[in-house]
Amino acid sequence: MEIRHIFTLSFILLGFAAIGNAQEIAADKTYNFCKNTGDYVDYNTAISVPAGKVIDVITSRYSYWTSTVSGTGTLNIRSGGERCYLGSAKGATFPTWTSFKGDAHLYPYKNVVSSAGFYGLIWGHGGKTFNPEEPEKSISEGKVNNCFAASSLTMHNGTALASESGNRGIRIGHLEMEEGSRLYSYFKNSNTPKSYYVIGASNKDATLAGRISPMDDNLQNCLGIIKEGKGTYRITGNTNNISGALRVLDGRVLFNNDYKKALSSRLTGSTGTPYKNTDTGVFVMKNGVIGGTGSVAAVTDVYGTIEPGDDGIGTLTFRNCVSSAATTLRVRPTTNMVLEIASSESADMIDVNGMIEYYNITQDFATSTKMPTINVVLREGASLKVGDSFSILKYKSLGALNNVEWNWNIKFPDTYTWEYEVQTSASGAKELVVKVVSLEADNGEGGGNIDNNPDDEDSWDAGTWDLTTEKRYTAALSTYSNYVKKNIGVAVRGWVMDINNDYDTQTALIAKQFNAVVAENEMKFDATEPSQNQFSYGGGDNLVNFARRNNKYVRGHCLAWHSQVPGWLTSDGTKNSMNRTRTELLSILKNHIFNLVGRWKGKVSEWDVCNEVLDDNQTDIRTNPNAYTLRPSVWKTGIGEDYIDSAFVWAHQADPNAILILNDYDVEFKGQAKTEALYNLARRLKNSGIPIHGVGLQCHLNAGNVDAAKLRANMMRYAELGLVCNITELDLGISDTSEASLQLQANDYYAITKVFLDVENSNCMMIWGLRDNDSWRSSNPLLYNSSLTAKPAYWGVHAALRQTYDETRTGVEDITNTGVEDNKYYDLTGRIVSSPKHGIFIHKGKKILIK
Ligand code: XIL
Repeated sequence: MEIRHIFTLSFILLGFAAIGNAQEIAADKTYNFCKNTGDYVDYNTAISVPAGKVIDVITSRYSYWTSTVSGTGTLNIRSGGERCYLGSAKGATFPTWTSFKGDAHLYPYKNVVSSAGFYGLIWGHGGKTFNPEEPEKSISEGKVNNCFAASSLTMHNGTALASESGNRGIRIGHLEMEEGSRLYSYFKNSNTPKSYYVIGASNKDATLAGRISPMDDNLQNCLGIIKEGKGTYRITGNTNNISGALRVLDGRVLFNNDYKKALSSRLTGSTGTPYKNTDTGVFVMKNGVIGGTGSVAAVTDVYGTIEPGDDGIGTLTFRNCVSSAATTLRVRPTTNMVLEIASSESADMIDVNGMIEYYNITQDFATSTKMPTINVVLREGASLKVGDSFSILKYKSLGALNNVEWNWNIKFPDTYTWEYEVQTSASGAKELVVKVVSLEADNGEGGGNIDNNPDDEDSWDAGTWDLTTEKRYTAALSTYSNYVKKNIGVAVRGWVMDINNDYDTQTALIAKQFNAVVAENEMKFDATEPSQNQFSYGGGDNLVNFARRNNKYVRGHCLAWHSQVPGWLTSDGTKNSMNRTRTELLSILKNHIFNLVGRWKGKVSEWDVCNEVLDDNQTDIRTNPNAYTLRPSVWKTGIGEDYIDSAFVWAHQADPNAILILNDYDVEFKGQAKTEALYNLARRLKNSGIPIHGVGLQCHLNAGNVDAAKLRANMMRYAELGLVCNITELDLGISDTSEASLQLQANDYYAITKVFLDVENSNCMMIWGLRDNDSWRSSNPLLYNSSLTAKPAYWGVHAALRQTYDETRTGVEDITNTGVEDNKYYDLTGRIVSSPKHGIFIHKGKKILIK
């Protein structure tokens, strides 16, 4: 397949004539997979780019490029056309380029069949869904195309990058865009795909001079930029539309477009506006800085810093230059505006053609009383006179979320004595003016460090335990959990054990250790109603019967979900593929709920009525603190949000005593958007009088990522709504089974169990499986290994339980007093025994022997 070119002078001239003023560098080696046909070309030859060498790759107009690329040299990609996938068909996979750490350059290659739409690359996604609200998490879970994550990519004049359909992430260590280059989102005109470029990990500075805007300028199509890393990125393009928001996580982004030209020619400027008019277009997170001398048309929400100007003095304007629509600048408790004064004539300014609006909510969704800071900074050596005054902030009006009262926290330089006033111009615009009133230094508070980490009120200490000590205590988990009246259970995988046989090893182990069970799959929709209105209860019945024989609490999982649903209902879980009416879908859901809940009425104590209803991306909550966004599901699509309300009502009618739960994942730790969204939805349901009794936190987590204090704070606040908060599917993945990883996992199991035991409004903690080799995850996340030996994780749970038991038990002495009056049986440690069989017990204050 591979065609090698021996470089001759004529080839160099010919090849580079087509790419304009690109650097004329000869390649050490050329890989040419360009075919002059309209067919797709598969190209998978591994490419090495040695240090100090230049490697050329010429792509075809239509190609699937799946080669591995490695090395630290220069890679020139000369793109022959717009359907050049960096990956296989439709982006289903992307190749491994993670050991490519060199400099890549993208050039157009126009010697191809007919004229291509654009010359560039389309990013494969590997089926991964990216969440811009949690970019670090998406990255750590491998949900980005990372071909250029460790390298540098320069887009030369005439080139473009685009993405495949879906919610996609592309990570580029260092991105330079030459004028005339173009960053697209999905390469077709459609408004559902969302493409996010995560750029800057290499910590270097860069300039984005090309155009960042969706295909055909269709603003409905979402194109987001996420800036990471310490470097400064200068946006100089003046016709951009970063429709899917610019998020500055770290380092600086300077808006250096030509503002005057944008205004006179009605251009979109450096950012454009978001694809929904109500959306926020720029988020500056707490470690991020924005600045520059140009203009921002988008609503800008600042948890971090605004420092106008480039490296010197300048004015940063917030203004929509295309229309007269106002632009809002949102400030937060941690906002820090740094305004420098260089001389009597020269100072920074922030000019907002709209409202400055204060939101008293931090990046981590905590309500705070801190006020946004204006930090007036004097350039070193600057000498001012009494009466010098500077207009540092212009705006049309002030506002606040829920009309809370607020004020600027203004910090003046240590030198001179300062005052400020707000002046109103004839047009009604406001100006905040600071002036020097005395050359003496003011004794008051001078400029200083800004604390942009408000106090964490949710700290908590789980305590300590020791594995060797713990192993001396041999009582089963259930000994303790029964005593403290908390359910600690396990998800049962009916097909890997004989749950009907109490002597089966696994069945017996479950019976001994746990006091609660849930079916891992047997009560799901596809298992229980495989054909419409034909119910299949066998698996569920077996589990319920086991539980009744062994006195276990039963959770039911689950009634309305988008996954594990039968084909007769929906082709993929999300589409209403049979085009059923709302009424038809409501009656299907109602029938299913009445049948299942009715079947196990009084036997299943607690139901996950709705499972995983929330979308992963809950960014809306930053703008609207009461918001939550639902994920697409057959129920949501065909019925609407109220399927949730109806499901709870029907479950309650079918079994008025069952505890009804709203269950989800990624909702564990206070301070994250989806955690907040679950709280909002639960509150909405509860306040509408829907019979919801609590929420379930699935807790599919990784060891090392557990913040017990934030979990506890999140769980406890459900009590304010009168709701329980249970842990429903706990498992903690580890990357290997080294002693250190097993101990880390055990410590997190210990901490979570401690939280569970400490939180009064929690009655149930379920572990999602018995032994590692049967887990749905491959990261050994459970309490037992494949030979059913208890791992350190087991002992972590054991330690938490035993410690709590030790703190709460009363002992035999107390029993002789209280036990005299009642008719109960106690064991010798004082625990109530509900059905005493053989042994010595205390009954009515006396020791008795039951044979
Ligand atoms: C998983 C089961 O463990 C697997 O056996 C099955 O193949 C897929 O579903 N969230 C849930 C559970 O609510 O129902 C899922 O269980 C795990 C994620």
